[in-house]
Amino acid sequence: MGKSMNRSYWDRVSEDYQREILSVFDNDLHGTVEEKIAATALAYPGGRAADLGCGIGRFTPLLADTFEAVEACDYSKVGLKKTKSRCRSRRNVAFYEVDLVRDAVPFEPVDCVLCVNVLIMPSLGKRLRAWRSVVNQVATGGTLLLVVPSYESAQMEFYRAIKSRLERGEKSAVAIRKSIDERATVSDMRMGVLQLDGVRTKHYFRDEVESMVEDREFELRATLKVEYAIEPGDKEATSWDWMVVARRRK
Ligand SMILES: C[S@@+](CC[C@H](N)C(=O)[O-])C[C@H]1O[C@@H](n2cnc3c(N)ncnc32)[C@H](O)[C@@H]1O
Repeated sequence: MGKSMNRSYWDRVSEDYQREILSVFDNDLHGTVEEKIAATALAYPGGRAADLGCGIGRFTPLLADTFEAVEACDYSKVGLKKTKSRCRSRRNVAFYEVDLVRDAVPFEPVDCVLCVNVLIMPSLGKRLRAWRSVVNQVATGGTLLLVVPSYESAQMEFYRAIKSRLERGEKSAVAIRKSIDERATVSDMRMGVLQLDGVRTKHYFRDEVESMVEDREFELRATLKVEYAIEPGDKEATSWDWMVVARRRK
């Protein structure tokens, strides 16, 4: 049976996060997320931020250094404990164990919500509930910084895998067969649920994540690639997540 993305999965992953997960904070080639956090902090002097699904707290100290007050939440106890320990020298962070799918979020909406690779659960119903929680935590006039896995990026990895096999002289049919490691069902493929290290993970098309925010009272400000090197030192062939910057109208 495959691994499924629930709370105990995230507790286990959080024990050895750096090895298990591609950390956005540590691998963001151009520092795109950091730059947007800094720009957003400047726009809200004395503002409050939230790290929704903070994981082991890679971004939380940065938020604490740029915003007046920070609310950090996750449903993984292991992740939260690590976040607390990373933030021990900061006095402006509050921590909450919250399931974004099920629980009411126990703090007021904030000026800046950071939500990095949290809306990735394969279940549409759960994802929509978590998305509603994320939307509700952005104050009127506040900014959402949302990062999600890119379907286009996964497709480009597939394209490059085939290309390099063809260049090595393999026949098309063989190159295709050997490049498909995907065991997704047709329904998963249509829903953008691809396997990431054997775990069913929602991926988004650019237009899809843009519509998602525009459908919920947000004005889209920018969509950016958060790029990662596939091979160390290679800045040409990159993989990427989508980052959407959006402002809440009401
Ligand atoms: C890929 S990690 C990203 C962590 C962090 N945002 C970062 O970028 O380093 C996804 C995080 O989302 C959390 N998460 C997933 N589903 C959640 C839920 N329903 N409620 C709260 N947190 C959730 C997991 O526990 C995990 O820490």
